[in-house]
Amino acid sequence: MDYSGVFPFLKAEEIEASEEEVRRVLETLQQGDGAGGEYTGWLRYPESIPEGELRKMETLAEEVRAEADAFVVIGIGGSYLGARAVIEGLSHSFPSLLSPSRSQSPLVFFAGQNLSGSYLEELLEVLEDRSVYVNMISKSGTTTEPGLAFRVLRRHLIERYGQKGASRRIISTTDSAKGALRKVTDEEGYRSFVIPDDIGGRFSVLTPVGLFPIAVAGIRIDTLVEGAASMIEPCSMPGLFQNPAALYAATRNLLLEKGYSTEVLVSYDPKLQYFAEWWKQLYGESEGKDGKGIFPASVLFTSDLHSMGQWIQEGRRTIFETVIHIDQEDSTLQVPVDASGLEDGLGYLEGRTWPEIQDKAYEGTKLAHHQGNVPVLVLEAPTRDAFTLGQMIQFFETACGISGYLLGVNPFNQPGVEAYKQNMFALLGKPGFEEKAAELEASSRGSSEEKLV
Ligand code: PA5
Repeated sequence: MDYSGVFPFLKAEEIEASEEEVRRVLETLQQGDGAGGEYTGWLRYPESIPEGELRKMETLAEEVRAEADAFVVIGIGGSYLGARAVIEGLSHSFPSLLSPSRSQSPLVFFAGQNLSGSYLEELLEVLEDRSVYVNMISKSGTTTEPGLAFRVLRRHLIERYGQKGASRRIISTTDSAKGALRKVTDEEGYRSFVIPDDIGGRFSVLTPVGLFPIAVAGIRIDTLVEGAASMIEPCSMPGLFQNPAALYAATRNLLLEKGYSTEVLVSYDPKLQYFAEWWKQLYGESEGKDGKGIFPASVLFTSDLHSMGQWIQEGRRTIFETVIHIDQEDSTLQVPVDASGLEDGLGYLEGRTWPEIQDKAYEGTKLAHHQGNVPVLVLEAPTRDAFTLGQMIQFFETACGISGYLLGVNPFNQPGVEAYKQNMFALLGKPGFEEKAAELEASSRGSSEEKLV
């Protein structure tokens, strides 16, 4: 982590002065005696995943890869974003358009992450002629969006493959003992994976929640986990300047105290779009509570330099950037030399490679934004591969735990998520929500009268 770009917005002494508090908070996190400490199993999970568990996931993934052309992952929030982040981060940009000889993996689709009927209808259309497997992921087993999508996909499988065939093609990932999904899994004999009790949704990508779908996509989960495990030690170091997660957590909280209340995660690689979505959930749901928190936003450069770039350069000075900079681009594409007839002023770039041009865009942007009074943190990643993504996941999760405690919140709960659910249940007439429904009815009558006035 290169934090030179936070100066002069922060002083070195201010960072140094936070060392003691960060050490205390890190200890609390490691000992599991802080708020939500019972959900910190992810801290050391990558180095303690039972060998047999990884093998079980790989073996079942091989079966799915051999038999399926379409693999539907059903889940929302922490039961969705991590798998998508890694799969999209490490797959071809146009998987559905690759010729069958080049595509060795089933197409991966996601469902249950929204309440769009047309999304599901269109998904069913593309599943029609394909051999389908489904992975239903829900820790609670009762979340509305994935629960409804599962109903639709389960019926689709039963209609096509019969009850027994469907049960073979449904793989569930859920709690070891509790919940509706565990119950139907046991009753219908689905093959299943267990989500450890001490790991909550948004910290669960390196459990079967993320690992199984990632394995089906053909990505080496052992390498991903190795990368994550390699970050455990550095992210456990007591010294602020030896521990990148602690330094990141401390720096962003100090910036918040100075009024930088929005953090923009920047990436130059479109394949990291869902990594940014995963990161936003991790920090947004963990820190945005009790009237506190840094608002996590994300941009993809250079696309967004032609839209949000203006705001970042000259808008309200309340933002700082965290840039994921991948050192080695995996492309060798060069600007063609013969461009006769084109008077676009780009001739000076002939023969240069895309990574080289992108790197200059990165350097130029970093300088411009810093000069425009945006503090800039940079995370240097040697390459975009399974090992590095594993490292980044473990780094961000650990930093999130430390950061939440520095902020003074419980980073492992999400009480605010209930508010919309309660209202939605009441409005949909769920039994037990009659009182809430009456309350909503009265308040909507009140507000429409106000509008009439
Ligand atoms: O991070 C979280 O805890 C949430 O985003 C959950 O993952 C999400 O609400 C899905 O929950 P479940 O897995 O119980 O369906």
